[in-house]
Amino acid sequence: MHERPRDRETTMKPHSRSRIGRIAGLSGALALCVAAGAAQAADLAQGRQKADEVCAACHGKDGNTPIDPTYPRLAGQHRDYLERALLDYQSEQRRNPIMGAQAKQLSRADIRNLAAFYASLPGTMSHKR
Ligand code: HEC
Repeated sequence: MHERPRDRETTMKPHSRSRIGRIAGLSGALALCVAAGAAQAADLAQGRQKADEVCAACHGKDGNTPIDPTYPRLAGQHRDYLERALLDYQSEQRRNPIMGAQAKQLSRADIRNLAAFYASLPGTMSHKR
């Protein structure tokens, strides 16, 4: 009973050490990614530009006047909700032929900027605290 943990330790050592090394390397890379993500603040001006060029055609220039009553209002929706929606259209977790095609044209930065831009517009879709 007492021998067991020690046995395991000696037999596992070379293996677990290399695995720990790999995990340490991975978490280092992960920390860098997280830091980089935090450093990339959304650019509202770029969000507005992209929105005017592409999205306004259907969602309206103010994000509040869609060309069809079945098209959603984006103005004032929560930033994280909009971002999630666009990522999900892109990955087809959320399926819609129109928005799927739109989202696939967007970079990760476009999505971040567009979500922040529409969230910043006055709207009735969420309560700002
Ligand atoms: C050709 C018309 C069209 C264009 C252009 C368009 N959209 Fe959409 N969008 C739609 C339609 C239709 C829906 C509703 C789809 C559904 O039911 O999921 C929608 C839904 C969305 C949603 C989900 C909103 C919600 O309440 O869940 C977001 C976010 C969105 N669009 C963002 C954008 C952005 C950002 C752009 C510009 C890059 C854009 N759309 C361009 C037609 C369009």
